[in-house]
Amino acid sequence: MTAKREDSPETKCIHAGAGDFPAPFGLNTPIVTSSAFDYRADPVRYPRYHNTLNHDLVAARLAALEGGESGLVTASGLGALSAIFLGLMQPGDHAILLDGLYGGTTDLVEGLLKPLGLCFSVWNGDPELLEALITEHTRLVHVESPTNPLLGIVDLSRVADIARRHGLISVIDNTFASPVLQRPIEFGFDLVMHSATKYLGGHSDLLSGAVIGSTALIDRVRPTAIRLGSSLNGQDLALLERSLKTVAVRVRQQSLNAGELATRLDRQERIVQVFYPGLAHHPGHERARIQMDGFGGMLSFRLAPELDPNAFLDRLGLIQPAVSLGGVESTICQPSQTSHSRLAPAERVRLGIDDRLMRLSVGLEAIDDVWDDLRHALQAC
Ligand SMILES: Cc1ncc(COP(=O)(O)O)c(C=O)c1O
Repeated sequence: MTAKREDSPETKCIHAGAGDFPAPFGLNTPIVTSSAFDYRADPVRYPRYHNTLNHDLVAARLAALEGGESGLVTASGLGALSAIFLGLMQPGDHAILLDGLYGGTTDLVEGLLKPLGLCFSVWNGDPELLEALITEHTRLVHVESPTNPLLGIVDLSRVADIARRHGLISVIDNTFASPVLQRPIEFGFDLVMHSATKYLGGHSDLLSGAVIGSTALIDRVRPTAIRLGSSLNGQDLALLERSLKTVAVRVRQQSLNAGELATRLDRQERIVQVFYPGLAHHPGHERARIQMDGFGGMLSFRLAPELDPNAFLDRLGLIQPAVSLGGVESTICQPSQTSHSRLAPAERVRLGIDDRLMRLSVGLEAIDDVWDDLRHALQAC
């Protein structure tokens, strides 16, 4: 889908929602640090209500980038997910979750939502099998695409269509793609959420999350976000606004870099498998070509059995072993030890998440420098 020039992500991420502030403020948004406001105003403003000047601006920019009516900025991605599930479901309600989600989402479901009486089924991603999981109690379908860490791709139009026909709310975690590369609302999704800690923040110095959708749905999620206390502070909102100005150029370049690295890694004998939707042999390649504007900056690969994962990590110099992802610096992690460490060991085995699986978040360094680092570590271990 080609956007009009003024509608392009590059322009929106700099200008959408920007306020017209008095001249002494200059070009940048003032940072509101107040936690006390006149209670006789309408609306009553308070940072936990997500309605300070900085909240409004960042939420409007994210809504414009995702093509939604409204947005809500939270203190973390998990804060956004918690507000969605707890705001839209009652005890006894049922939701369908894509298999192989980010481990923290699975942990939220197992450790908090199920004990509160919410019910879940796991869907394997085959659109033909989705309808069979819907019951009279189903309220919501939640997916990721690409998934963390195996880069699975879901057919967005099919999921949104099935959800709409059955009166379900379709939710997607768009963290890996970012709105620069994928705008699920264009394919019919109701709600998009982000760990804004990742590409939207982009510099590994900020924890935040976001939910975007229709005003009606955001108005249903907001009261729960307020009750959970998962609001972002003014300083971090300003940091997020600044990061959003460069998200389009960052993510497009990271996506190009990741594509090149995936191709080179795919030819390495000491790597058993490369997971990247830009590779022609990836099972979701054709679908990703249709629904994404680039294949993203994340890739995973599995080391050959003879390689010791710790020796490989120790021999990297430029690429930092680290949790999280989406920063300007390339980072690597074993999902078995990080994002999916709280899963039961048998569940990790079932998903194919073992210690030899490496998740690489490709940064903005010169591609040959990152490649030399990987090649050297593969040869030396
Ligand atoms: C895909 C995905 N969704 C959600 C989250 C949770 O976000 P946060 O750590 O900002 O709470 C993460 C964190 O790694 C993630 O990778």
